[in-house]
Amino acid sequence: PKANKAKIGNLAPFRSQRVRVFGWVHRLRSQKDIIFIVLRDGTGYLQAVLSGLTAQTYDALTLTLESTVELVGTLQATPEGKTAPGGHELSVDYWRIVGAAPGGDDAFTNRLNEKSDPSILADLRHLVLRGENASSVLRLRSLMLSSFRESLGAHHLLEVTPPCLVQTQVEGGSTLFKLDYYGQPAYLTQSSQLYLETVLPSLGDVFCVQESFRAENSHTRRHLSEYTHLEAELAFIDFDGLMSHIESIICETVDRLLQDEKSAALIKQLNPTFEPPQRPFMRLSYVDAIKWLNEHGIQHEAEDAEGNTIKDEAGNAKMVDHVVGDDIAEAAERQMTDIINTPIFLYGFPAELKSFYMKKMAGAEQGGHVFTESCDLLMPGVGEIVGGSMRISDMAELMAGYKREGIDPAPYYWFTDQRKYGTCEHGGYGLGVERFLAWLAKRYTVRECSLYPRWPSRATP
Ligand code: 4AD
Ligand code: MG
Repeated sequence: PKANKAKIGNLAPFRSQRVRVFGWVHRLRSQKDIIFIVLRDGTGYLQAVLSGLTAQTYDALTLTLESTVELVGTLQATPEGKTAPGGHELSVDYWRIVGAAPGGDDAFTNRLNEKSDPSILADLRHLVLRGENASSVLRLRSLMLSSFRESLGAHHLLEVTPPCLVQTQVEGGSTLFKLDYYGQPAYLTQSSQLYLETVLPSLGDVFCVQESFRAENSHTRRHLSEYTHLEAELAFIDFDGLMSHIESIICETVDRLLQDEKSAALIKQLNPTFEPPQRPFMRLSYVDAIKWLNEHGIQHEAEDAEGNTIKDEAGNAKMVDHVVGDDIAEAAERQMTDIINTPIFLYGFPAELKSFYMKKMAGAEQGGHVFTESCDLLMPGVGEIVGGSMRISDMAELMAGYKREGIDPAPYYWFTDQRKYGTCEHGGYGLGVERFLAWLAKRYTVRECSLYPRWPSRATP
């Protein structure tokens, strides 16, 4: 009898019928003259039973993990007392090997697991992707991006696609990837923020999901050289409104994911103790955070004038208290976030730590420091996942900002024009997609949250 072709994730309507499925042999077990296969096709896993030693089963005995096969048979509800994915199994009456994979020692599943050497796992990322954990993380990533888009759409933001090849910097010259562009200098974008700002008068509030590139020599578990950057820009907004908006987008996206059966199941599988964040998020000023760190004995490594770590005779780094003006480094930030253990909006960073475009906070000078309307959202386990700010809307102030940072304003004419042709109070933010996912799925490193992660000296596969 005829058999309908179906995807594993969509088999429920075919109970008691003959179906045809294609996929990869995910698991294999034989018992006397019966062979059990768990078949994988990306939409789910299917248990299949090959029984009765005919010539064909004999063939099946040579089956190997990761081979591709076509299986035809009757879909039966799993007998009581047994469990199988989807609550059914396929009683196979016809099969065909589509592409045989080498078995034995070459079967990568025998060699690869989470405890394998990280550099082998990185080289074999294309095969690691086939594993249950890696594919669950990527599946959740896809659903998460859709949920973000839905939340942003519900707030009337439109999606645009800014360029990756640019001739301006956003977040400081030291992390730019430079390249030769038809004989002209160009860079891989660090952030699409400046472009988003220029779209406000055209489309109103906008967002993008674009790759950003940072030539950072950071080997930490939350830094990538290329990452997916979800950025948004909003017109006629104030600093408080900006932080509330970020909070809404995060919470509504998490709610959508928990309401959807598929994403909720993935979160439960990857992060069983996940609790949605409670609103409103704690707001902690930079100056208060410095006090908090000192009260909790969280110090940082002392540096000399050249930025080298000062070491004692035993070679240990000299540790010192934080003072206003210090960058709060990753280690201190992570310790603080983990102790407080809730999302934190850290806001009001000193201007000297921040980029040229950031709006100053009115009347907040202290000890020679000027503070900005900037905020980082810190999440337990990861630390900073969002960086945002209000932008300078005044022309003269922007010109002073370029000057302070030693930036030649000429290549930025299109960005500067924004202040000339109808300026407005505006602000926005950038969210690191891999960092958000590392928080949501409780992954140790952002490298697990990227399809093919890039970090210093790694651009393969
Ligand atoms: O804090 P950042 O540098 O802010 C900006 O780029 C702003 N121009 C964004 C904006 O306002 N439109 O980066 C924003 C976020 C960080 O909070 C972090 O989550 C992520 O991008 N990020 C990285 N993620 C992985 N690897 C890196 N090297 C990252 N650098 C930043
Ligand atoms: Mg930042």
